[in-house]
Amino acid sequence: LGELRGVIALDGPSGTGKSTVARRLADALGAGYLDTGAMYRAVTLAVLRSGVATDDDEAVLSIAENVDLKVSTDPNHQETLLGGENVGAEIRGQAVTLAVSAVSAVAGVRALLVARQMRIIAEVCETRGGIVVEGRDIGTAVAPDAALKVFLTASADARALRRSLQDNASGREVSIDDTRKDVDRRDRLDSGRTTSPMQPADDAVWLDTTELDLQGVLDEILALVAERDLRG
Ligand code: DC
Repeated sequence: LGELRGVIALDGPSGTGKSTVARRLADALGAGYLDTGAMYRAVTLAVLRSGVATDDDEAVLSIAENVDLKVSTDPNHQETLLGGENVGAEIRGQAVTLAVSAVSAVAGVRALLVARQMRIIAEVCETRGGIVVEGRDIGTAVAPDAALKVFLTASADARALRRSLQDNASGREVSIDDTRKDVDRRDRLDSGRTTSPMQPADDAVWLDTTELDLQGVLDEILALVAERDLRG
């Protein structure tokens, strides 16, 4: 079997296993990988470090415009660099997680990052043939022409549980109650914002992962890839 040709858009809320699925899928398909959430998180970290208020849209946008941000597109070597500093762990911490919805709701920030994401995708498609892109608005705004769009869902309980397992594995002590509250809060903010809210594309395939393990999810998506003949 050959490598992926084109773009797979993987959207959905947090806790659906999206990141792990996206990376493993990219690896299995010999494709690139782009974590757009990491870009919003890195900009949020820059905003927090600068000390400007996260509800000051203009100041937030100006930080986003001047940020020195680099993300890797290798599924087996993920790195997010802010001014050359590897911030991969810090952007997944509590402070950034609490502030990221506000920053990613700023229209100017989204326009900027979506344009960058489109450039990265075009570049990777040219050099490696294909890329798996994960986020909230990939199928609707970033890659509306993607060869395959998958929208991952899972029950809120399943998502809270996965998130807290992830937190514990990374050494963060967060109670399941707090995690459940944060999952609910971010769902509300990310789906309720006016600029490209989290929304499945009309032509997305829905995949409920509540009862599936990682391999089960991968098998479902690989079946869709085969069905659509996306391997060159
Ligand atoms: O996938 P994640 O949890 O790392 O995403 C962090 C936040 O970034 C999430 O709360 C919403 C926002 N986000 C977004 O608005 N659009 C994207 N394409 C990806 C993430």
